Amino acid sequence: MSTTPEIEDIEAPGTRRKHYRQEQEDRRNIVKRVAFEDKEQTPEVTSINSEGDEVLLPKKRFYRQRAHSNPFSDHRLEYPTSPDSMNWSKFYPAYFNDETGEMTKKVEIADIGCGFGGLLVDLGPEFQDKLILGMEIRVQVTQYVEDRIIALRKQNPNSEKYQNIGVIRGNAMKFLPNFFHHSQLSKIFFCFPDPHFKQRKHKARIVTNTLLSEYAYVLKEGGIIYTITDVLDLHEWMVQHLDEHPLFERLSTEWEDQDVCVKIMRNSTEEGKKVSRNKGSKYVACYKRLPNPEC
Ligand SMILES: C[S@@+](CC[C@H](N)C(=O)[O-])C[C@H]1O[C@@H](n2cnc3c(N)ncnc32)[C@H](O)[C@@H]1O
Repeated sequence: MSTTPEIEDIEAPGTRRKHYRQEQEDRRNIVKRVAFEDKEQTPEVTSINSEGDEVLLPKKRFYRQRAHSNPFSDHRLEYPTSPDSMNWSKFYPAYFNDETGEMTKKVEIADIGCGFGGLLVDLGPEFQDKLILGMEIRVQVTQYVEDRIIALRKQNPNSEKYQNIGVIRGNAMKFLPNFFHHSQLSKIFFCFPDPHFKQRKHKARIVTNTLLSEYAYVLKEGGIIYTITDVLDLHEWMVQHLDEHPLFERLSTEWEDQDVCVKIMRNSTEEGKKVSRNKGSKYVACYKRLPNPEC
């Protein structure tokens, strides 16, 4: 029997994936260019869809990447020198005022380590008047979310829906105050962060004393940090560090029960859905940003 079909079988998925990703890349570039050059043309993006009128959501299997990335080896990432040097118009073109050359809104909600973007997609319509940003360190996962947002916007032309969500590739452990002004954010989410189980890897956890001070800096007084994980050890770690930090105070379970974001973050992220399917536990802890102590 010829071996050719076997070779094809082995090569086909990779080739298909490469081809598909190139198509998506081309599409992303067209959308970005259109969004940059003339906001009015954005709805015409639908016409570039070679598959016809139907807008297809991106397929996760074409964006596979290692499950974990090392937050200490991201040397090729670029950071803004200050929040004012960030050009948010390409993330939220609908909120860019051509006449003033300014954004009409600032990012207020951040989903750190947003993964495949499930939280963004559900929070967007719930907080239609706020700009929500996912920050994700993995390249292909970020591209998936970017493509997902583009597709959702195209599915909802002539509507504000999903115009308020965006994703950026970045390492949240570095230079967060270069992205956001002091007290700019009202909510920060840490949903199912990487657990980094081994003791020597704990320093890679997304909640540490130093990082909490950065989160406190960008979070406004009364703003909320949301955490959820299925790993008890990580939950206890986050609780311990947040409890010890003078600028955070834990909110009660009664508060959690009535908060719409807690309900959304329990069920909407991809990781959260996986935990539900496996009937795992979900540990939640939410903290309020306290006022700075008087000197
Ligand atoms: C276990 S996944 C959870 C994803 C998503 N929040 C969810 O619940 O489905 C953790 C995500 O955080 C991202 N991540 C890890 N460290 C990060 C960092 N320092 N900055 C930004 N993203 C990070 C990972 O790439 C991964 O996608």
